[in-house]
Amino acid sequence: MPTMKLVPATVADYRALAERRLPRQLFDYIDGGASDELTMAANAADLRSIGLVQRVLRDVSSVDTTTTIAGRPSSIPVVLAPVGLAGMMARRGEVQAIRAADAVGVPFCLSTVGLCSLEEVRAATSSPFWFQLYMMRDRGHVRELLQRARSVEVDTLVFTVDLAVVGARYRDVRNGLSGGVTGWRRLRKALDLVTHPGWAVDVGLRGRPLVFGNLSAYVSSARNVNDFRSWISGQFDPGVTWRDIEWLRREWSGRLILKGIMDPQDAMLAADAGAQGVVVSNHGGRQLDSAPSAISMLPRVVEAAGHRLDVLMDGGVRSGQDVVKAAALGACAVMIGRPWVWALAGQGEAGVRNLLTTMRQEVAVTMALTGVCGCAGLTSDILFDRGAAPFGHSGPSTAW
Ligand code: GLV
Repeated sequence: MPTMKLVPATVADYRALAERRLPRQLFDYIDGGASDELTMAANAADLRSIGLVQRVLRDVSSVDTTTTIAGRPSSIPVVLAPVGLAGMMARRGEVQAIRAADAVGVPFCLSTVGLCSLEEVRAATSSPFWFQLYMMRDRGHVRELLQRARSVEVDTLVFTVDLAVVGARYRDVRNGLSGGVTGWRRLRKALDLVTHPGWAVDVGLRGRPLVFGNLSAYVSSARNVNDFRSWISGQFDPGVTWRDIEWLRREWSGRLILKGIMDPQDAMLAADAGAQGVVVSNHGGRQLDSAPSAISMLPRVVEAAGHRLDVLMDGGVRSGQDVVKAAALGACAVMIGRPWVWALAGQGEAGVRNLLTTMRQEVAVTMALTGVCGCAGLTSDILFDRGAAPFGHSGPSTAW
């Protein structure tokens, strides 16, 4: 009997589609985290464990999910996070993603290590978009990228601060993506590519040029994660301090958001250094394993610096319910990374659009059933004690 093709609905459905379509090494690069992946698991588990209060008879005939994120209107409190190598998951992937983000009315953030350049993304949209940057040893490169970002009217710079060195990603090691591969491992890697012909034709052949569009002046190819890794180790500056953020602040007059803040004191320092926002983030569990979940640190960062900064969070968000929970704990928005990349890998632009539309519906339904008609009503009042308590006193936990 022929198997019926199911229409993907949830983030998990898109993840399954991506797993079928992508070569293992690329799927694992996106899907995996650092070391034992404890933090990655805690991000999602801690969000799931938060309960919502069901309220009734509150006239929810008109629910408005729109909000303002870092000065920009958005249809839901969601931003497409910067993801390195996204353009390897589908042909000219970042362009497909920004078109989907535009269609649903949410901000898109381009990664420094995306395949599509700032200029290619600019040509695909008339909306403002965000750009993510790391500090490189050569400050001249940083200046040049800032200048390019300005000239394509990027209004918000997301500066990643949690990648002083790259976390231990053992899936990449097992797949032969970290360091050289020889002999049968090379063969296995080649087989991985040819046994995924859909991807091989879409991206490997038709998706060229496979270069890091923003870095082509400094790094010659982006054929695989190794190229990215060796560029990072050569160029990323582990000596960066708050003084460099002050330097950056002088160089960039637009909005500045620091991504990778997990400590309330660091959030206060970010405000002191002139940032307008922070993303509470442990890099999706890809950096320091055993760091607490992002959602468990969110209320502490909001308490310390929420009056001075826009506070966003990312890590583990898999549904509109998760978006609502983070907003209720004080996030002005969440960033989603893996979910949009899975949808992109699975179904391209249409997949990302469908995923965002589903999330928008989920946010609206969750707001209605918690008795809230607008984002301003998303407060801790809608959170059930079971989820709220561990954040208040007993510290982050994965065990309740
Ligand atoms: C890059 O930001 C990565 O997490 O691989």
